[in-house]
Amino acid sequence: MHPDVQEILYSKAEIDNRVADLGKTLSRDYDGLNPLCICILKGAIIFTADLIRQMDIPLQLDAIAVSSYGDSTSSSGIVRILKDLETAVENRHVLVIEDIVDTGLTLHYLTDLLNRRNPASLKVVSLLDKPSRRKVQIKPDYLGFSIPDHFVVGYGFDYAQKYRNLPYIGILKKAVYSS
Ligand code: IMP
Repeated sequence: MHPDVQEILYSKAEIDNRVADLGKTLSRDYDGLNPLCICILKGAIIFTADLIRQMDIPLQLDAIAVSSYGDSTSSSGIVRILKDLETAVENRHVLVIEDIVDTGLTLHYLTDLLNRRNPASLKVVSLLDKPSRRKVQIKPDYLGFSIPDHFVVGYGFDYAQKYRNLPYIGILKKAVYSS
């Protein structure tokens, strides 16, 4: 285990099992709809790569990069688009692939933005959810795991751009971000 990690929350095997389940459910729900899957960069890269390989239906992939201002472990709700989509959303069945819903401010902004582009449908799959931190009422349509209020790293999750490549999801030691 990485020395900055206090505890492993989900092992690689636990994540793989849950992602396979989500892939099965999504394959069933989106059968025949050729969904436009939108990866939210960079955090959702690894989840997206694993999830779409568990979906055995035709689909399309695009990515959007957003940055939210705030201190390093919490979001301010002010979202800026760093890289927009290349694909038109109008009349498409859009599936937003997010890493985590924390305050919900990022997802609220993004779903608003995408809804204004008139998709046929718009749903969100998030690997993690921290419902106790919510500032706006928003809920992912599909969810991997609901977790308590911990700052997590690994499997795409970063702190100051570090730890994304850890194969598990771990709780970051408080000393790392409070010093
Ligand atoms: P929200 O706008 O507060 O819902 O925050 C969303 C973004 O904050 C996520 O997409 C993550 O990039 C980041 N974030 C929130 N909680 C964590 C965490 O525990 N670890 C790493 N990143 C996090």
